[in-house]
Amino acid sequence: MSILDETNKISSDLAQIVRLALAEQTEDVRLYVARLVRKYRTTDPELAEQLDRYLRTKAPRSGAPLRRATQPAQPGQALPVDDESRLSLLKVFKDVPDRETPLLSQDVEENLLQLIEERRQSKRLAASGLSPTRSAIFVGKPGVGKTLTAHWLATRLKVPLYVLDLTAVMSSLLGRSGSNLRAALDFAKRSPCVLLLDEIDAIAKRRSDDTDIGELKRLVTVILQEVDEWPATGLLLAATNHPELIDPALWRRFDLVVEFKLPDMMSIKAALKQFLGPDFGLFGRWIDILAFAFNGESFSDIERDIQRFRRAIALGTASDADLIEEFVKSRAVALDRQGRIDLAVLLAKQTRLSQHTISDITGVSRDTIRKYSAEQTPNTRKTPRRKSDQCAKPTF
Ligand SMILES: Nc1ncnc2c1ncn2[C@@H]1O[C@H](COP(=O)(O)OP(=O)(O)O)[C@@H](O)[C@H]1O
Ligand SMILES: [Mg+2]
Repeated sequence: MSILDETNKISSDLAQIVRLALAEQTEDVRLYVARLVRKYRTTDPELAEQLDRYLRTKAPRSGAPLRRATQPAQPGQALPVDDESRLSLLKVFKDVPDRETPLLSQDVEENLLQLIEERRQSKRLAASGLSPTRSAIFVGKPGVGKTLTAHWLATRLKVPLYVLDLTAVMSSLLGRSGSNLRAALDFAKRSPCVLLLDEIDAIAKRRSDDTDIGELKRLVTVILQEVDEWPATGLLLAATNHPELIDPALWRRFDLVVEFKLPDMMSIKAALKQFLGPDFGLFGRWIDILAFAFNGESFSDIERDIQRFRRAIALGTASDADLIEEFVKSRAVALDRQGRIDLAVLLAKQTRLSQHTISDITGVSRDTIRKYSAEQTPNTRKTPRRKSDQCAKPTF
């Protein structure tokens, strides 16, 4: 590498550290420095050693100096890290500006509002000898808002959100994940917060790897104890896409189980409105068709496709009609025959597409489209049926 390249590299490392330090992302600074230690170990061992020494010096108990400028002294606020990898065991989200409210089904929303209310009125509960809900587990397919909702809850409760990084916890030398987990949870217990054990099934999933089974069992035991001992000052959340992998003993420990479902037609329409933002006007006329085509998809899948549409519109690479046509065509593949007929009828009713084009998109013959369009009654089934539940998603 030329000296100039080297200097550029160092400048960019320096700039990065300064950026993180000024943003008071102390734990990220630590992470970055740990990376530099590895990086310079061969090229500049002295520097590497010096940096490593700084890292190993425990932050003063009055709080990391970087935080002192804006925060009053908070004892013991240095984030727990894995001793070996120096990875932070918790990710911290605090003072995040207003998050958009997740789209929630009514029962989930009611559960969560109750949870917030309990914390607002904890004194009143205490007067009746009760404490607020301490823990909840969120269950549901990927992309339905479990993580998002944990963030939102923390914002609503005006407390920081700590997300346990299970990878960091388990990245440790064998035998240390249990103590890592305890260190992380002990830290979170010290002050009011929401602690999220995200994708908690990761522990169970590791059973299939060559990881020591005893080690995983110990981890589960720690979690079981910690859920039991969790103080009411914090809210302990867990989330999983794989409820079947969760130890049955763990389920019983949580005060509340919240099931996040895939969006229904109404929620899909609300999601489309939210995700389309200023482009809602342009795509508004396609709403019924889009809602029909998105049936069975998660919020995050819907958001991803809508973002793709919006980018194409912004760059002028495709018209809304082109995008919808191509999209609906790709989705039609996953529908059973009746679903494709329903889609064809919807297209015939709501668009100016020719029957020829509709037939091309849906694979339904023009005769059939004519027949069903004439027959269509208000009772006709509105939701598309998939060929089968396991049907592979069309790729596009
Ligand atoms: N219920 C929802 N309301 C609004 N947006 C959502 C919702 N669920 C998912 N999203 C979008 O998808 C992204 C990923 O969702 P996430 O909360 O990570 O899903 P999960 O944790 O259930 O897998 C979110 O950041 C958000 O942009
Ligand atoms: Mg998630």
